[in-house]
Amino acid sequence: MNPADTLEEARRRIGTCDDLDALKEIERELVGRKGIVASLLAEIPKLDPSERKARGQEANALKQAILGLLKERREEIEAGRLDAARRAEGFDPTLPPPRARRGSLHPITQVTRELEDLFVSMGYEVLDGPEVELDHYNFEALNITKDHPARDAQDTFYCDEEGRLVLRTHTSPVQIRAMEKREPPFRVIAPGRVFRQETTDASHDHTFYQMEGLVVGKDISVAHLIGAMKTLLRGIFGRDLEVRLRPGHFPFVEPGFELDARCPFCPSGCSVCKQTTWIELLPCGLVHPNVLRMGGIDPEVWSGFAFGLGLSRLVMLRHGIDDVRHLLDGDLRFLEQF
Ligand code: PHE
Repeated sequence: MNPADTLEEARRRIGTCDDLDALKEIERELVGRKGIVASLLAEIPKLDPSERKARGQEANALKQAILGLLKERREEIEAGRLDAARRAEGFDPTLPPPRARRGSLHPITQVTRELEDLFVSMGYEVLDGPEVELDHYNFEALNITKDHPARDAQDTFYCDEEGRLVLRTHTSPVQIRAMEKREPPFRVIAPGRVFRQETTDASHDHTFYQMEGLVVGKDISVAHLIGAMKTLLRGIFGRDLEVRLRPGHFPFVEPGFELDARCPFCPSGCSVCKQTTWIELLPCGLVHPNVLRMGGIDPEVWSGFAFGLGLSRLVMLRHGIDDVRHLLDGDLRFLEQF
């Protein structure tokens, strides 16, 4: 057979071979020691010297071409085997890859960032404070003395035997830290995590989020407080809501209020406002003179207002979440909705 026909024949046989052992056999027949190419080479010495070089080159080219075909086919068969093995395991190489799953921001993070932007646009500074706090900042400097009944209302996790360190029960200690480091006038907010030793239920958790606000300046009054709270509500609910103040007692504000807003979800009563058309939104008040003094600020010259927004509660209101514990239990079925 001439080299061209041999190559054709080799191409056909190799191309239709599906088995590595059979391929080895073909390799032996074509390019093995006693194979076709070997016999072509063996004939060269018998040829006329003028033809030897060309025939030698031809035979070698044929050998290289066949080796190339063999290698290609071997790889194809091996890949096919891998495929078959994967298919047997239930892997379908023709399926598109699974869509990459994207995370999302936790609803508390979302609302925190929105409110930070809103307050920064009004000239407030965003502050952080320690979650493990000194009793002094969490209570004493906020006008809550050792035997004050307000301590019972804020069931505290103590961190040491002497009761010097606590997990902060509110973000208000950041008020004192802010006053110590600043000269009035100033405006700050302090969003963060707070802790209370409570039996958990649908509306109580041992860990939740608040955002403290504090403004200190000349002649700051309840009117400033109401103005700021109305702006806050517009930021949260996207429109103006009527507000009302009820007296509320917190040792660090005087006067102290509970601020209610007209229910943004109904005209005349629904389950969110418990049929009252008002929702209890946030405690606030004018900073108590003792607290200003504790923060190193002269209450004869300066005054201020403070508020404590419950971020966890706000997120629940906004999304109609009926159990506060969903916010922290990390269940993807819940989290994926945001
Ligand atoms: N720190 C108070 C609490 O968590 C809320 C509050 C803040 C009240 C600021 C008035 C002013 O109970």
